[in-house]
Amino acid sequence: MIKLENVSKSFGDLEVLKDISLQINDHEIYGIIGQSGAGKSTLLRCINGLEDYQSGTISVDDVTVDLKDKKKLHLLQKEMGMIFQNFNLLERLDVYDNVALPMKFWGMKTKTPEAKKKIEGLIELVGLSDKIHARPRELSGGQKQRVAIARALVLDPKILLCDEATSALDPAITRGILDLLSKINKQMGITIIVVTHQMEVVKQICERVAFIKGGRVLQIGKPEELFIRPAKDIKAFLHEDSELLPSEGVNIQLFFTDESADEPVISQMARKLNIDFSISWAKLEDFRSNVYGSLVINVKEEDKDKVTAYLDSVKVLWEVLNG
Ligand SMILES: Nc1ncnc2c1ncn2[C@@H]1O[C@H](COP(=O)(O)OP(=O)(O)OP(=O)(O)O)[C@@H](O)[C@H]1O
Ligand SMILES: [Mg+2]
Repeated sequence: MIKLENVSKSFGDLEVLKDISLQINDHEIYGIIGQSGAGKSTLLRCINGLEDYQSGTISVDDVTVDLKDKKKLHLLQKEMGMIFQNFNLLERLDVYDNVALPMKFWGMKTKTPEAKKKIEGLIELVGLSDKIHARPRELSGGQKQRVAIARALVLDPKILLCDEATSALDPAITRGILDLLSKINKQMGITIIVVTHQMEVVKQICERVAFIKGGRVLQIGKPEELFIRPAKDIKAFLHEDSELLPSEGVNIQLFFTDESADEPVISQMARKLNIDFSISWAKLEDFRSNVYGSLVINVKEEDKDKVTAYLDSVKVLWEVLNG
């Protein structure tokens, strides 16, 4: 388990992380999302001891991340693999030797039968057996990231840290990489932290997500909780300001979760209450294969109480956006 308690960090006068507390459970896929400059990469670098922090504590399996204790730090870092947006592969090495590189750093042999089995097994896991002796320049972006993932796993880490791992890839390739990360999480039980500014990434694989802004955690929850019912600052991030809604009448936002998404609430309501209303805005989103939705309806002022009472009776979550 990774635990951050009241962590603050500054670069000189610039306070980059402010009183951050969060807990990431074993075997979880945890997202950290926020705009550029929010402090996401810094947070990740503090977790794996590449960056020091001024106050609070970070611990991994009850071991404190402490940059002064080099020996303990190196052992902790061995438990954490990391991948980046720009892959960081060595051009002069082929796929096999790139994957083997962390073993070399630790003074392990990379050509023994056991080492070969391990390295070839990981290359197979990421789907690149036919490219085992290719150089990075002969690979596509998605393939390079697969090599980086295999390399990050070669020391049997318990945790995989991903910093914008799919930001340079197109949507289809991104999906493939995220599917691979999901598979690694399920098959190998590895805890994964995904740092990203892409909501699609968080929606597809994260079980929980922390939204950070200006170095502070604004909201933590399941992705569907954040995106179906975002806090104000997150709405701005998602470009969902309600400026386009009608100014006449009452705008009521309805939330559909996995239980209520299939039910014809809207058409039944129109029939039962015998009222007219219009739909001002709607979205349906896929979260780890479940569909969630949100809808804004515009009703006449005099119908508002009837409508909200009806929504309560059918247990649909709602919120009045104006008036
Ligand atoms: N080594 C450093 N020295 C001084 N300031 C830094 C350093 N690294 C990061 N910063 C500053 O800290 C803040 C947070 O940076 P960070 O890289 O953590 O953001 P980020 O959320 O990862 O952004 P992005 O989405 O662009 O990668 C920024 O204002 C950045 O300029
Ligand atoms: Mg970053």
